Amino acid sequence: MSPPPLPVDTSILPNLKQDLAAKPRELFIGGKFVPAKSGETLEVIDPATGKVFAHAASGGAEDIDLAVQAARKCFDTGAWPAMPPAQRARIMMKLAELIEANGSRIALTETLDNGMPLMMGYFGAVMAASEALRYNAGWATKINGETFTPSHPGEFHAFTQREPVGVVGGIVPWNFPFVMSVAKMAQALAAGCTIVLKPAEQTPLSAAVLGELVAEAGFPEGAVNVVTGFGKTAGAALVEHPLVDKISFTGSTDTGKQIVKACTGNLKRVTLELGGKSPVIIFDDADLSKAIPSAAMGIFGNAGQVCAAGSRLFVHEKVRDQVLEGVTAMAKSLKVGSGLDPETRMGPLVSDTQFARVTGYIESALSEGAKVHTGGDKADVEGAEGGYFVQPTVLTDTVAGMKAVEEEIFGPVLATMTFGDDDLETIAAAANNTQYGLNASVFTQDITRGLKMARRIKSGMVNINGAGGGPDPAMPLGGFKQSGWGRENGRAGVEAFTEIKSVTVNLG
Ligand code: NAI
Ligand code: MG
Repeated sequence: MSPPPLPVDTSILPNLKQDLAAKPRELFIGGKFVPAKSGETLEVIDPATGKVFAHAASGGAEDIDLAVQAARKCFDTGAWPAMPPAQRARIMMKLAELIEANGSRIALTETLDNGMPLMMGYFGAVMAASEALRYNAGWATKINGETFTPSHPGEFHAFTQREPVGVVGGIVPWNFPFVMSVAKMAQALAAGCTIVLKPAEQTPLSAAVLGELVAEAGFPEGAVNVVTGFGKTAGAALVEHPLVDKISFTGSTDTGKQIVKACTGNLKRVTLELGGKSPVIIFDDADLSKAIPSAAMGIFGNAGQVCAAGSRLFVHEKVRDQVLEGVTAMAKSLKVGSGLDPETRMGPLVSDTQFARVTGYIESALSEGAKVHTGGDKADVEGAEGGYFVQPTVLTDTVAGMKAVEEEIFGPVLATMTFGDDDLETIAAAANNTQYGLNASVFTQDITRGLKMARRIKSGMVNINGAGGGPDPAMPLGGFKQSGWGRENGRAGVEAFTEIKSVTVNLG
């Protein structure tokens, strides 16, 4: 099956590569591009080749301070928060248009930087980001309070108003760098906040394009700032900065916990979107023509580097063989290769570190008694010998307690377990036997059973019979347990960037 034509102009690639090689990407602070104060840059590696192809400024504490000061000034002078909401919405809409107009450059940059298939670079970065902006622009004019009737004697007019929380630090991971930067920013801006974004050191490039388009869209200086750099330096400085009011973090549970501790200084508000080990539960009455591709792409999509990936498959023993056969057939048919190859369906892992981590989990599973049903090894890609490619992998004989069943692998590795005609409590208990609680999928034709499972599963998201596309900006996204604090997206996502003020007027 040949893929649908992509609206990406790949003829710009040679010039883009040349430009990336020639000029290190700079920080975007107070509406201007600047190098890091230290003059340092970080190397950007193409995960499909393992070679350095660009550099980006490596920001440190001094640069973070300048960016925070710029965001603070934009907030405190009212340049952004006091702008009429409809005008803020228009600027955000304008940015959405500019992102689409620059879609080819953004998609190609994202694919070079992260390794994702170009199709995902377009739909999952460009289009998802512009939709996140449009959705959240709508909220700028719809953030309201409530009115109340206090029970004190007398007559009162009592109400709440929602005010922007202030300056936000947005810390972004490498798995979907562009859309995560834009989505965090869009929610913060809709609420009237200003933001300093700190992209991941592995994938700093698309955020520089964002800075350029932010300047063009007409945001006031300092509303959006981008400081690329390492977590331990730039990230830590942002989290500790006393003039930052809130941290919105997406990344690993371990780093999330460190961030919580570091935010105690001025008691910053914190929302965390962390890891997962999400179950996929397939009952024997499921429509397998839907369940099989969904289970396969739920773990092989973006090479499994997805917080909501379905990494633990629970399948009824009656359909186990059929499901494993189907998922294996898909695993074998997925073309693994450079994201720039239009035939590619699964790109490389983002880095050598991630490659070592994922292959290490496979080895540990085998040493604990698991078996490889398909995959299980690095993937050889002709013409891309230095790339971080892993085969789509299905493990069987995996049981609770194994490292590969307990921990987030963040790679294309599926652990499979079976169940029989157990009651729903038993199946839910197995699915819930994890420190995480981000996402879950249930496949059954019996909608009552599906809904009963949804009630029993402890996770922030549950999909019954397939999730459709990626996350929807209108649907809250976040986790129970150690998958995080708070929610992104939807009303809850925007409100997480506000403070509630209760105002009581004594009417005498
Ligand atoms: P990480 O959580 O350490 O990095 C994510 C972001 O946090 C990056 O921008 C990084 O620079 C920043 N960061 C790191 N340490 C920081 C600190 N002390 N203070 C402030 N910011 C800091 O994730 P990492 O190490 O790249 O990946 C390790 C594992 O984390 C992955 O294998 C995966 O399991 C998980 N992960 C989960 C993600 C998700 O979407 N839930 C995204 C990325 C990683
Ligand atoms: Mg880390």
